[in-house]
Amino acid sequence: MSVIIKENNIFILETPNTHYVFGVDKYGLNRHLHWGEKCDADDYFFEYIGDENSNHSMLDEYKQELTVFGSTMYRECGVKAQFPDGCREISLKYDGFETDENSLCLKFSDKAYPLELKLNYQLYDETDIISRWISLKNTGKETIRFEKIASAEFSLPGIEPYTFENTNGSWGGEFLKTETLLNGGSAVFESRKGGSSHNNTPQFIAYRSADEKSGEVFFASLAYSGNFKVSASRDLYGITRAVIGINDFDFEYSLGSGEIFETPKVYCGRADGFGEMSRQMNSFAVKHILPRQFADKPLPVLYNAWEAVFFDVNCENQTALAKLAAEMGVELFVMDDGWFGQRKNDWAGLGDWYVNKEKFPNGLGELINAVNSLGMDFGIWVEPEMVNADSDLFRSHPDWAYHYDTRQASELRHQLVLNMTLPEVQEYIFSVIDNLLSENNIKYVKWDMNRSFSETGAQNLENPKMLWYLHIKAVYDIVDRLKKKHPDVAFESCASGGGRADLGALSHFDQIWTSDNTDAVDRMAIQKGFSMLHPIKAMRAWVTDLYHDSKPSPLPFRFNIAMQGALGIGGNLLKYSEEDLKICRENITLYKEIRDIVQFGDLYRILDIDKDDVLMNNYVSPDKSKSVVFIASDGTKHFKKRMPLRFEGLDKTKRYTFSFDGKTYEKSGAYLSEVGIQAYIRGAYYNRIIIIDEKKKGE
Ligand code: DGJ
Repeated sequence: MSVIIKENNIFILETPNTHYVFGVDKYGLNRHLHWGEKCDADDYFFEYIGDENSNHSMLDEYKQELTVFGSTMYRECGVKAQFPDGCREISLKYDGFETDENSLCLKFSDKAYPLELKLNYQLYDETDIISRWISLKNTGKETIRFEKIASAEFSLPGIEPYTFENTNGSWGGEFLKTETLLNGGSAVFESRKGGSSHNNTPQFIAYRSADEKSGEVFFASLAYSGNFKVSASRDLYGITRAVIGINDFDFEYSLGSGEIFETPKVYCGRADGFGEMSRQMNSFAVKHILPRQFADKPLPVLYNAWEAVFFDVNCENQTALAKLAAEMGVELFVMDDGWFGQRKNDWAGLGDWYVNKEKFPNGLGELINAVNSLGMDFGIWVEPEMVNADSDLFRSHPDWAYHYDTRQASELRHQLVLNMTLPEVQEYIFSVIDNLLSENNIKYVKWDMNRSFSETGAQNLENPKMLWYLHIKAVYDIVDRLKKKHPDVAFESCASGGGRADLGALSHFDQIWTSDNTDAVDRMAIQKGFSMLHPIKAMRAWVTDLYHDSKPSPLPFRFNIAMQGALGIGGNLLKYSEEDLKICRENITLYKEIRDIVQFGDLYRILDIDKDDVLMNNYVSPDKSKSVVFIASDGTKHFKKRMPLRFEGLDKTKRYTFSFDGKTYEKSGAYLSEVGIQAYIRGAYYNRIIIIDEKKKGE
């Protein structure tokens, strides 16, 4: 890893397999030169485009690291400002660079106005992933307004069209993949809902011809949980660009005198195949993105009582569920919605974060003590950014929700969004959760957010269009403050399932509730989508009785799918048979044996349920001494499927042992990946878990 600086202001970010090259030319223009395989460092130079005419500007053709709005650049820009005198163009001059071993910052300032702009790059040891972001500083006296501040612009090599993979999900159907071949014009993936949403994902994955194992893939993921925009375009000359960052939809930011604005980071990289891309991002996120307290610790098996009792929580039923959960080996018992205020359903109570005395006459302590004496930690659900109109909080502070006096508030799920830009709201939220954590032995907070924003009036702000950004910033800041004060408490980000499942959330929260859809069959696609650019260990996956649809798959099948993330249980254990409880116990025991491999290993997606009728995922420990293979199929077509299973990710020179369908195997990694073993996959809800161990010499 190094930053190579050439004399002519050309900068090469050298990672193990990649050169990312850019520079500042003699006109002071930032220029992108190369993203791809390494070339001879001396070969990189600035080429100039001539041949400008009145309809095709030369500047509009250049590949840049950042396009500022102005002059004859008509393509999607990254930064657009409005200066106090009304000028809406930025024109930059180059002021030099700062660097150390693993970082680089190119400094620019406006030629006429007091604005500094920095392009920041960070490299990390032993990975091709780099991060990029932009900083802006107002060095003048008057406020500068920005209409757009993206985090980075990328130019992809060559002129053939790229396919952009993103998601077109929904509540209960997060991370469902879409592929868009970008021949010309633009493709936009975005959120305008306040959170990063269940729909598109703040990322791009661009390729021409690639599959799990090969083909050049360029990718970038934005660490931001609010409104984002990925705008990809292919120009008339065939150049494909992508600008990624905070959405400019209803966005503005007023940068006051002396103030600095730093954009969210974008993590980007290049890989040979989707599998390698995911493995890079997975291990990178564990090492560099997830909050440090829990990043290197395996996540506990949790039980969450939401689907068992919904709002009908009380001390008796939670204690009864806790007993059964403890017997099956659960380590963390989480009480979900319904424990506070007048919360009997979703019409009332949000905002009143005091315990409901009808449900818990002796306070939370009685339940928490019971849970602790059963050997489990206790976790709790909150939805701090929201308020029901029917709540003490709203009755006392009707002005605390975003609103316009002249407009009817849309009450999605009968709730309103609190104006998180108000310092008094931030203090209220911090103090109620701080008190909850200080007064009770709580080790886990599930932080939910169950609606999109609307009627976003924030009269307290001089520039109300800043609220989208300030809201998310306030959430991050409060979580960071709480984590600082309560370092042994883990936080989960939930937004009606995976409505805020992104690397921004994962920079502050320790894990994510991936989807309210716990149907094991549907989960195969959802979890695959999540695994593309997010860390597996942060992906909470529950075994439940499934309430959205009527027909749960068999318990072992549900375990097979849920064990491919951070396992949780969410069914109504009070209704489980002895046999069901035994299955739970056995699978939880098994999960504890393999969870280090799942949570910290490398994932090889070998067979795809949609393409192959069968899902086969192989998780391999970093030292390749252990591996766990999950095979599942909800039902093979044409009755049955006899097929060789070829394993991936094993060390070809090592020998491995394992049992499968009553047979014991001892084979080399080479044999297992080249030849494989014969399987007969048949029937509804087929599922197998194979644990592969290295056979050490002398064993
Ligand atoms: C939505 C979440 O995704 C669920 O898991 C549950 O916590 C409910 N909210 C509670 O209202």
